[in-house]
Amino acid sequence: MYLKLKPALSLILLLLIHLPFAHAQQKSVDHQVDSLMRLMTLQEKIGQLNQYSDDWTATGPVTVDNDKTRQVRNGLVGSMLNCKGTDRTRWWQEAAMKSRLKIPLLFGQDVVHGYKTTFPIPLAEACSWDIDALSLSARTAATEASAGGIHWTFAPMVDIARDPRWGRVMEGAGEDPYLGSLIAAARVKGFQGNKLGDVNSVMACAKHFAAYGAAIGGRDYNTVDMSERMLWEVYLPPFKAAVDAGVATFMNSFNILNGIPATGNSYLQREILKGQWGFKGFVVSDWNSIGEMVTHGFVKNDYEAALAAITAGSDLDMESRCYKNNLAQLVTEGKVPLALVDDAVRRILEKKFELGLFDDPFKYCNAEREQKELNDPENPKIAREMAVRSIVLLKNQNNLLPLSKSTKTIAFIGPLVKAVKQNKGFWDVEVPGVDSGFIVSQWEGVKNKIGADAKLLYAKGCEIEGSDKSGFAEAVNIANQADVVILSIGERRNMSGEAHSRSNIGIPGVQEDLLKELLATGKPVVVLINAGRPLIFNYTADNAPAILYTWWLGSEAGNAIADVIFGDYNPSAKLTISFPLSVGQIPVYYSHLNTGRPASGQGNTSSYIDLSNYPKYEFGYGLSYSTFEYSNLTLSSDKMKSDEKLVATVIIKNTGKYAGEEIVQLYLRDVVSSIVRPVKELKDFKKIALKAGESKTITFTIDKEKLSFYNQQLKRVAEPGDFDLMIGASSKDIRLTDKFELVN
Ligand code: GLC
Repeated sequence: MYLKLKPALSLILLLLIHLPFAHAQQKSVDHQVDSLMRLMTLQEKIGQLNQYSDDWTATGPVTVDNDKTRQVRNGLVGSMLNCKGTDRTRWWQEAAMKSRLKIPLLFGQDVVHGYKTTFPIPLAEACSWDIDALSLSARTAATEASAGGIHWTFAPMVDIARDPRWGRVMEGAGEDPYLGSLIAAARVKGFQGNKLGDVNSVMACAKHFAAYGAAIGGRDYNTVDMSERMLWEVYLPPFKAAVDAGVATFMNSFNILNGIPATGNSYLQREILKGQWGFKGFVVSDWNSIGEMVTHGFVKNDYEAALAAITAGSDLDMESRCYKNNLAQLVTEGKVPLALVDDAVRRILEKKFELGLFDDPFKYCNAEREQKELNDPENPKIAREMAVRSIVLLKNQNNLLPLSKSTKTIAFIGPLVKAVKQNKGFWDVEVPGVDSGFIVSQWEGVKNKIGADAKLLYAKGCEIEGSDKSGFAEAVNIANQADVVILSIGERRNMSGEAHSRSNIGIPGVQEDLLKELLATGKPVVVLINAGRPLIFNYTADNAPAILYTWWLGSEAGNAIADVIFGDYNPSAKLTISFPLSVGQIPVYYSHLNTGRPASGQGNTSSYIDLSNYPKYEFGYGLSYSTFEYSNLTLSSDKMKSDEKLVATVIIKNTGKYAGEEIVQLYLRDVVSSIVRPVKELKDFKKIALKAGESKTITFTIDKEKLSFYNQQLKRVAEPGDFDLMIGASSKDIRLTDKFELVN
């Protein structure tokens, strides 16, 4: 019947049918929560706000209570983290079913980039700029994790980061709020699927709220201090995008923000998140972040920490025990209104109802489903697709790449060639009963790819760290026998990640010395750089003929790297974070202000006397085996009113000999404004596939939102005036420009 009606009419009809059902569903959840809460004692309510890690695989400082099981059986624990697998989660759920009210436990886990099948680290995935692929990656991880008994992932991490010394840059989407917001929404939708309650959906968790990535010195957990405008302009947008995407939960952050710990920060959690943004989910603290407010010097003791946290809107206490040990007293003494506890409990119980856990607490504990989903042959294929899209081609002198599969002899050298688990990067999940045998090493990937009569020689050459060069001779020896050398170097996987910040972000040890020796043989060398962050490798960048940034690509790393090296996939990724020339430049990012004395000026300028201001590789940079020509930029008008839209059109041609994809970027600059705006800001992009020789016309639509910023009063405004429009292959490689005016 609908198919014959006009689409708009059928949409209205569908809404008229669907809305009352959704409303009825919410009513029923509200009703069920009300009924249950009327039965709960204060202790049982506080139990819902109490979360412990399973003692098996903690991701933080473990406090061992020898009676966790008793507490669960007495309804004094509402959720667990770090317990995985249908066996273990069933065991804990059975304990919860012995409690008086049989309120099911929630199981949370850091499924950040995959559960069993490991995907590229999030920063690598972000470089794909492929929103659908990013969503599918999260969807696949959710399907596997939910089959493993997990209801809730502590992901996506949506912290904007502009300091590559910070170990957790690996976990986010890089430096840009516009791209970071799109990726935040994609990952939330991927994890949560069609709707919570579907058995292959998990609750997502936008973290770490907020501005954790702005830690001074790039040192994890360090102080954050910034203007409210910077907070709103740069660090909050991805969190708002997550709320708009329907994220079920938030996690607060360890850091102080402008003198107040995020966990005890009512401005963040009550005024912005639950107030202005109307967030209806719940906020979990980070691991012991409530208790750490004592260490911060914000409160005197755990009693005051509990008071500060619940007042500020931290609903669930991960591992600090401050709520368990103090909330009842605070309520009894009238320091904490029962309504605050009830609000937190309600938010958590609503999610448990939505997940269907009251209907069936063991819904996610199906061992057959676990075996089926964790061994789905499609999942490694999806991971491989995501991995090839995450590899950034930084250099390709004389088109050395792609290599021919019939290359006679290849010397594959370096400490990461035969590494297996290293490829998983930080925040991988150790799944019970699953070994690392399914991870494809770089050695295997290349071996699988080349022809049977090709010879693949191996030498480690050196370790990742240390000064031992005794392996150089063997490496040089096999290089001399080869037609081409592939050198795989980089960090160790846990040289980035939580609590792994680095003051020196060079390639460790003697790995670049090894490259020097190999280049001296005169053989062509393809360098693979494995890392969880931008590294500084100027010698390699200036001397190696070809460089692929392979990040940590997960369980299909070897196959994906081989696909790119031998041309079965034409690299299309572009950097979403700037790569500094030197640590001295940090923070260095593309959307900087012009200053009154820009480096491009004469005389005294805002620049270093000993180094360029600009990064080695800029935001948006990445090469292809093809080249792309940009032409015919036209604007629908040179003026637009704030209630109108302006359309920019451009033709992109693949002038190379390989089919490939190009990420065409649109940057804008508000030339004069009441708050000075950056010299450019990413406002849109299109990733397009073009056959060799093919051209496509693409359009960008500019509306008032793309011209808006937070003014002095923190109001979002678009001010009349001139705008520069730039179409680029990167934030530096601007191909076409034009101007237009916003008129009243
Ligand atoms: C860690 C991390 C957080 C993670 C949590 C549980 O300290 O900061 O991102 O989700 O603890 O592992």
